[in-house]
Amino acid sequence: MHSLEFEELTEENLQDAVRVCNASLRYDSFKASTIRRVAFQDPNAEAGLAVLAYEGGEPLGFAIGCRRVRQPTEMVDPSAGWIKVLAGVAGKGIDEYGVLDSVCERVEVELGRLGAKVVRVSDMASWHVWPGIDLRYETLLEVLESRGYSKVGQAVDYLLNLRDFWVPRRIMKKREELSKRGISVTLAQSGERDAVSSWVKARFGPCWAFEVANSFENAGEGAGTLVARDRNAGEIIGFSTHGALEPNWFGPIGVEEKRRNSGLGSVLLFETLRLMKLKGVAEAVIPWTGHLFFYTQVPGIVGVRHYQTMSKKLG
Ligand SMILES: CC(C)(COP(=O)(O)OP(=O)(O)OC[C@H]1O[C@@H](n2cnc3c(N)ncnc32)[C@H](O)[C@@H]1OP(=O)(O)O)[C@@H](O)C(=O)NCCC(=O)NCCS
Repeated sequence: MHSLEFEELTEENLQDAVRVCNASLRYDSFKASTIRRVAFQDPNAEAGLAVLAYEGGEPLGFAIGCRRVRQPTEMVDPSAGWIKVLAGVAGKGIDEYGVLDSVCERVEVELGRLGAKVVRVSDMASWHVWPGIDLRYETLLEVLESRGYSKVGQAVDYLLNLRDFWVPRRIMKKREELSKRGISVTLAQSGERDAVSSWVKARFGPCWAFEVANSFENAGEGAGTLVARDRNAGEIIGFSTHGALEPNWFGPIGVEEKRRNSGLGSVLLFETLRLMKLKGVAEAVIPWTGHLFFYTQVPGIVGVRHYQTMSKKLG
């Protein structure tokens, strides 16, 4: 029998959570700000779902559970649960597998008690760390599989070294060509927040609208949204955001459906990455995507992370 003691995540033990995550999840580097963002700053947060596990005072395990109970209002579903992060390291009397299993069990029981019927790991859009579990976290995946989870989706992140990034001539030409046709690409100003996020909401849903609105809130920390406009028609036709959730994250990006495949998305993509580089971002991430060629055209891609989204029914 192991002797793990559980504590709820607070500002006081937050550094223990950071330590456990960075010791356990070797392909990530967790900062306190990320844990605060997905735990305390998520309007859906409920007591008892973000927990640390200790063995004799030593932090060994950490997990954040969640249900979508408040935001976005259109997507509220109290029966849908998530485990956003799950981390564990071996202690004296318990191995890594045992810690992960116990912490997962603890959060599942709590989610079930609150009324969740299904649990997903870890794609709780807009308040997520990952779109799923990195395939290299084998023990984590083995624990989830043994607990009855199965794969329900997959996605990748592209990792970019912006020191090796440049804008190809074909993209500059495309931008000029679009400009001659009356299409402008400019950084949205603070007064445009509602107009831009409503446009995004109508076409791409409330999560992306939230992220776009967040980019205006975080403008002081380098975030922003580019807007493409057809000056002749006087309407927005595309957007591209950066720094909305994490300072070095690209996206979301979207182009009005009937305007796609004419190079506008690529112009927005490159212009956003250029802005991020100018703001001093060295290592950028294009998180949570299934697009291949749209992103592989970018110089400076140094890695791809592959994630598997896992889910199981509770009870
Ligand atoms: C992704 C999106 C923004 C692209 O916008 P777009 O204006 O169509 O982009 P472009 O015209 O520059 O590129 C379109 C296609 O041509 C390809 N392309 C562009 N330039 C190219 C080149 N020089 N050589 C080869 N292929 C090229 C791109 O790879 C892309 O392929 P894909 O859409 O099959 O992945 C748009 O499809 C969209 O809004 N999709 C819905 C929202 C979405 O999925 N956003 C991304 C989430 S990660």
